[in-house]
Amino acid sequence: MSDTVNLEYQNELAGKTSPEILSWTLARFGVDNIVLATSLGAEDQVLADMLVQLAPQVTIFTLDTGRLPEETYEVLAETNKKYDRHIAVAFPDAHDIEAMVNAKGPNLFYESIENRKLCCRLRKIVPLKRMLAGKAAWLTGLRRAQSVTRDRLELIEWDQNNGLFKINPLADWSEEQVWKYIKTNNVPYNKLHDKGYPSIGCAPCTRAIAPGEDLRAGRWWWELPEHKECGLHFNKEAEPK
Ligand code: ADX
Ligand code: SF4
Repeated sequence: MSDTVNLEYQNELAGKTSPEILSWTLARFGVDNIVLATSLGAEDQVLADMLVQLAPQVTIFTLDTGRLPEETYEVLAETNKKYDRHIAVAFPDAHDIEAMVNAKGPNLFYESIENRKLCCRLRKIVPLKRMLAGKAAWLTGLRRAQSVTRDRLELIEWDQNNGLFKINPLADWSEEQVWKYIKTNNVPYNKLHDKGYPSIGCAPCTRAIAPGEDLRAGRWWWELPEHKECGLHFNKEAEPK
């Protein structure tokens, strides 16, 4: 993929609304060649709601790490029911997880960044790669305002790691816009959001935040902000030296 194509696509998307970006993506790549990766968090629920109206047959998938909070399974079931569809669930390789846990313990991630990245790699990144294989573009609910590691996010980017385009239709949305959409459209949402969890990942690696704290302060809270990417959205420039 050349930088020129990337820039051309960025220019085409500039100024479009999120549903327009979704329509553009469908027209450009085709319904069978795109997927939405959802963590069932607020942003992804907004995108899923928009997408099922435009193209109900698009694959929407979630990565079940095996360590998700109960509330995430509840909103998964509720979402399937509301839209009368099945969000695909991708699991990690059981033998890899078995080997990791037997070698390093069930809560290895608290012990070092290396351990945490290993766990994220086996539980999330490997299954993600499998779900993205052969696709032309994936949709995510990333927003620029979420963290220091995301402040240069574009509406469309070339994902070097996975070899396809990554499209972020909510890149410039505020948290307020997300919640306004959810309330106005009666979109199901993870009940942990009502308990001080703006960003929700695995249960042992996510906690509630205090008012005024950074939105992602509750994710891997024992690590420095610049380390807080699990590798799903690896950004070279944001990696600490
Ligand atoms: S993470 O990298 O820190 O875990 P975050 O929770 O902010 O990511 O979510 C950002 C985007 O990554 C989501 O909008 C979604 O597209 C994707 N994502 C994150 N977690 C998952 C998951 N468990 N399954 C599928 N997609 C996910
Ligand atoms: Fe493992 Fe925590 Fe990463 Fe989940 S967020 S995959 S439990 S290190």
